[in-house]
Amino acid sequence: MAWKTLDDLDLNGKRVLVRVDINVPMEDGRVTDATRMERIVPTVRDIVAAGGTPVLMAHYGRPKGKTVPEMSLRHVVPALSDILGKPVTFIDGDYGDSVAALEAGQIALLENLRFNPGEEANEAGFAARLATLGDVYVNDAFSAAHRAHASTEALAKLLPACAGRLMQEELSALEAALGTPERPVVAIVGGAKVSTKLDLLSNLIEKVDHLVIGGGMANTFLAAQGVGVGKSLAEHDMAGTARDILAKAETTGCEIILPRDIVVAAEFKANAASLTVAADACPDDQMILDAGPQTVDYIKSVLKDAKTLIMNGPLGVFELAPFHTATFGVLDEIASQTKAGQLVSVAGGGDTVAAVNASGHEADFTYISTAGGAFLEWMEGKTLPGVAALEG
Ligand code: 3PG
Ligand code: MG
Repeated sequence: MAWKTLDDLDLNGKRVLVRVDINVPMEDGRVTDATRMERIVPTVRDIVAAGGTPVLMAHYGRPKGKTVPEMSLRHVVPALSDILGKPVTFIDGDYGDSVAALEAGQIALLENLRFNPGEEANEAGFAARLATLGDVYVNDAFSAAHRAHASTEALAKLLPACAGRLMQEELSALEAALGTPERPVVAIVGGAKVSTKLDLLSNLIEKVDHLVIGGGMANTFLAAQGVGVGKSLAEHDMAGTARDILAKAETTGCEIILPRDIVVAAEFKANAASLTVAADACPDDQMILDAGPQTVDYIKSVLKDAKTLIMNGPLGVFELAPFHTATFGVLDEIASQTKAGQLVSVAGGGDTVAAVNASGHEADFTYISTAGGAFLEWMEGKTLPGVAALEG
């Protein structure tokens, strides 16, 4: 892995094109979670300190090559200015002249790149046009690095390029978690469907020592072992695939951890009357909404001996009380092991981060990624085009 950083390029007096990901959730014109904006502060600050003029480039939503006013990045300018502690100059449409007029140390933000069809098409012409706006290119958008778009891929090859601080941080956290981790390594994966996580499971059973499977995916594995899962969400047509994964895990020496006991209810709603039973005792008219206490105790015992943990997905329906219990119980253990310096813990993905935040442990993990899709693709062992382009 040989990408340059801000320390390797001369930024003094340079216009620095910085690809950031500020695709933040908004409601009624207000940013509801500014995490992604907060995380680009070190990069922007360091560029200004080195004498550069940052020109931020980003996407918002999926406007598909057309101007969609609600998806204008103009709406995030007040929040971004607040977070950066400096006014941000917004540059719409035809960027050229306005960028040329920027003064040293000013911070600019270009209009949503995806208003131009050349962005998602990774078009050479659009990348070349962006390249005329700057002297240097910085990619700080790890969470968009799974997209081969003009601003993440083609442009990196046209200017001296490097990784920003957040990109560096994300890559080194992931390297510590799955690249060259301290063993034993535990992975926790959840989510509704095995069918969308096949590449993930195949990669993880080669890399980790213990793989905890939670959520709807666990039901599919239980069903594949001939266990009745009642009305639970499960992909019965994936039974063969699930059995193949279990068999392959035996050959790689990866322990697959499935629920040993389960919490079931007749209805999918908060505070539904529930029962804790053995994993093979789900009544026909009930559904599995969480893992039970014996499962949590077992996962905790595995975590006690582990050195590294990577998490993508909750164990149960954590949004509906009390079906957050297993997820929160395991998060408590991860947090205390991490705080005691016994565990390197890395989490990523929208649902996972929401669960970590809801549990109050967001400050207790070693690292929480800003990425969703990119984190998953990285865990799948895929090459991310935005990262590969920086490697030159
Ligand atoms: C995200 O929010 O996951 C990133 O900004 C990427 O957005 P996309 O999935 O629309 O490419
Ligand atoms: Mg996405």
